[in-house]
Order: sequence, then C-alpha cells, then structure tokens
Amino acid sequence: MTTADWQRLETSLPAWVSECRGYTAQGKVASYIPELSKAPKDALGITIMSSDGRSVSAGDSELAFTMQSISKVFTLILALMDNGEEAVFRKVGMEPTGDNFNSMLKLELVQPGIPFNPLINAGAITISSLIKGNGSAEKSARILQFFKRLSGNASLAYDSDVYLSESDTGDLNRSMAYLLKDHGVLEGKVDDVLDVYFRHCSIRGTCADLARMALVLANNGSDPLTGEILIPRRYVQIAKTFMTTCGMYNASGEFAIQVGLPAKSGVSGGILALLPGRYGIGVIGPALNAKGNSCAGVRLLETISQEMDWSMF
Ligand code: DON
Repeated sequence: MTTADWQRLETSLPAWVSECRGYTAQGKVASYIPELSKAPKDALGITIMSSDGRSVSAGDSELAFTMQSISKVFTLILALMDNGEEAVFRKVGMEPTGDNFNSMLKLELVQPGIPFNPLINAGAITISSLIKGNGSAEKSARILQFFKRLSGNASLAYDSDVYLSESDTGDLNRSMAYLLKDHGVLEGKVDDVLDVYFRHCSIRGTCADLARMALVLANNGSDPLTGEILIPRRYVQIAKTFMTTCGMYNASGEFAIQVGLPAKSGVSGGILALLPGRYGIGVIGPALNAKGNSCAGVRLLETISQEMDWSMF
C-alpha cells in the first residue's frame, strides 16, 4: 500500500466506524451461551495491522471478547501440523453445508457421517480430538501456547466465566459429540474432547490479537516481525480456503461478493479477516445478524473493502 492509501485508511477509519455503529441496533447479542449476553450491544471496534509493522485502530478496539468460532481456524491448523493433511481429512470434509453452524442434520443424512468441514461445530469438535497431548489439559495448554505465539501476546488467557457458561449449557454440542463418537469419528472420551473445544472457544483477546493472528496468515505463516515460520504455507492455504468458502457460515458467498477477503466470525461478534500479503484485521461488534455474524462488523468490512478496493476477486 502506498503511504497515501495508508493515510486515507488512518484518516477515514474513525468515520467509517461511526457510520457503521448504527447497524448494531439491527442485531442481537448471542445469549445461548448466557455469559455472552453481557457484551455491550452497541460496541464496534477494529484494528488493522500491515506487514510492514503499521497498525491502526478505531472504535471499541480495546474491548476484550472470546474468540469462539474464530479459534476453529487455528485449531484446524494445529491439527494439520500434528497429524498431516491425510489424517485430518479422513475425519472432516472440505465442503460448506448450507445448514446452521450447530446443525447435526447431515451427520445423519449424508454418508459416511463425517462433518462436512472443520469450521462448523461438529467439524471443530472433531478437530479438537485430533490435537496431540496427554489428556485434555495438555491439549488445551498446547492450543493456548500456539495462540500466544501467533498473536505475539504471552498473556492471552481463557475467560473462565464464558468457558463455564458454555460447558454448563452446551447440550447440543454434547449430543453432537456423542453422535460423532458413535460414528467412529471421535476418538477418546467425549467429555475430554468437549473440554478442549469449550476451552479454545473461550480464549479471550482483543481486535489487536485477532489482527496479529490474521497477519501471520496474510504472511503465508511467517511471523510478520521476526520472519520466523510459525505455520507451513500449505496449511495457511487450506485455512484461507475454508475461511473463504465457510468462514462466515451461510453468508460466506455474500461476504465473498461484498467484501472479498478470507474471514472467520464468532458468536461473540468477533471477525478475523485478512488481505493476503498485506493486512491482518480484527473486528468486534457483539450484536449479530440473522446469519450469526456481527451486524455492524460485516458492514464495516464491506465499507472498508469497497472504499479501499480490497476485494481479492
Ligand atoms: O460451540 C459453540 O456454539 C460456540 N462455542 C462457538 C460458535 C460460534 O462462534 C459460531 N459462530 N458464528
């Protein structure tokens, strides 16, 4: 990006956040995990980091939130690094579903009864079972350590209130995990696998943490500051492809058309997005639209991408 482009971004970002904040009124904060309902409905914030070390933030970018489904991108990558591509794709597919993220419909309807992709809940729970480690505590510790390295934030931690809230109320995920166990997809104890899953969904961060993690993906797996390879390039390619085809759930096609960047959303209202080779982006806006994506967050990314001509397509 030229200096003039970056200056335009820095100058315009606060105004774009103000314009899009109004869309928070059209959404609802998730409440099926009761603790999430405490998030401020009208919040909207963003951080954008560039591969040359520049960073710009606007709005409520300091608000801490749990990563929820955004974490699934990085547990997928860790499972690929632990097991290789062939072993992972024996257990999960590569296709979007058209169903809700927490649906089990196709596990019954479509043989061989494996999750369609690693970003729906059934797929991410399966991925949790593939993380190497001696018991759920070690697996969770490895995931948290991996997230700390990618975000460059050694104090990244779980939100234990959100973790307990989801663990107490996660009966749908629990039933899905038992079905997967019965289909021979899940190995190990169902409760242990779910513990790993609920814990990684409850890792808390800010827009800056998401932006930095996204920047590693934008840089094909290298640490943007040190050049150290944190993720093999092939696994970044796989992750970016899933983000493009299923990262925004049943709005992934519309998001690809309107924004044109690989992205992943979570029910806490976070969105991680990236422009390959150039930017890592973290967004928070807890009010969700009917598709489960941040209402104002999606609008903000549409505005920025269209104004700055960032679509990859
Ligand atoms: O399993 C769940 O329902 C949550 N821990 C994560 C779901 C989520 O973020 C889906 N996102 N849009």
